[in-house]
Amino acid sequence: MHVLLVGSGQLGSALESTLTRQRRHTVTVWKRPSVDISAPGTAEQVARLAPDVVINAAAWTQVDAAENNPAAAYAVNALGPKYLAEGCASCSAALVQVSTNEVFAGIPGQFYREYDQRQAGSVYARSKLAGETAVTALHAQVYLVRVAWLFGPGGTNFPSKIVAAAARQGNLRVVDDEYGNPTYAPDAAAAIAHLIETERYGSYHLVNEGWCSRYQLAQHVLACSGCDRVEVTAIAQHEWQRPSQPPLHAVLVNQAGAALGLQLRPWHAAVEEYCRQQFHR
Ligand SMILES: NC(=O)c1ccc[n+]([C@@H]2O[C@H](COP(=O)([O-])OP(=O)(O)OC[C@H]3O[C@@H](n4cnc5c(N)ncnc54)[C@H](OP(=O)(O)O)[C@@H]3O)[C@@H](O)[C@H]2O)c1
Repeated sequence: MHVLLVGSGQLGSALESTLTRQRRHTVTVWKRPSVDISAPGTAEQVARLAPDVVINAAAWTQVDAAENNPAAAYAVNALGPKYLAEGCASCSAALVQVSTNEVFAGIPGQFYREYDQRQAGSVYARSKLAGETAVTALHAQVYLVRVAWLFGPGGTNFPSKIVAAAARQGNLRVVDDEYGNPTYAPDAAAAIAHLIETERYGSYHLVNEGWCSRYQLAQHVLACSGCDRVEVTAIAQHEWQRPSQPPLHAVLVNQAGAALGLQLRPWHAAVEEYCRQQFHR
């Protein structure tokens, strides 16, 4: 197949490595600044290239900054996917749209399956939800893939920030009442690479198995990166002031992917591999 991969962040670069290593497909990569998906001409550009599959790993991911700049977040997260879907519809390409656990309300004690009701809170989450709605309204051949708490080589993510903060300031305060599914970008990329060969369009939660709080994730990251003497104090989310409040318990259940045999390893094991590679233990 001819795969058009859009975006070169954490997930985009993991997808590029996976697809290149597999050598099963011809891969074209679109990155900024040569391509801006928030430009309407994106639809025509896709149609001209006429790939078999488009994977959209591009997004505005600055969750806090989105609160003060909703137009920019919506341009990339809602209009960008809309234009890609228009292009895909006109050349009958399949589209992988990547979304987030934050489209769910995240009520404590609840777990969210692929077709559960969505209720986005923050500007970022609403812009991602608008992207989901746009692509599914415009095109039928859509794989809607939600991930959560993404981390991968070279990216700035929660594990890398925890290790940097531990080195800088020693003891840490970490939120213990916000839960999610750590998702290792190379594992999600491998699952997406399988998914695009199934032609089973629909929604998927491709997250590493299990879930945890930010505090539990920080403790495991520190243990795996040789910083286990760092003292970590558990705090409540309301004690950590930030412009946007993420959902407390937007924990995803991978039911649709698991039914097709697409299951990611437990998050503990993925964190161990990431830390081994990233922090050279
Ligand atoms: N990070 C998380 O914790 C998390 C959690 C849940 C879901 N997700 C979702 O997972 C997906 C991948 O996230 P990620 O962490 O890999 O993101 P990332 O590392 O921030 O990368 C985003 C990519 O999108 C590109 N981009 C931004 N605006 C663009 C535009 N207008 N046109 C073309 N490209 C543009 C960026 O380019 P530049 O490098 O030039 O900025 C970058 O390559 C996103 O859909 C995100 O919403 C992420």
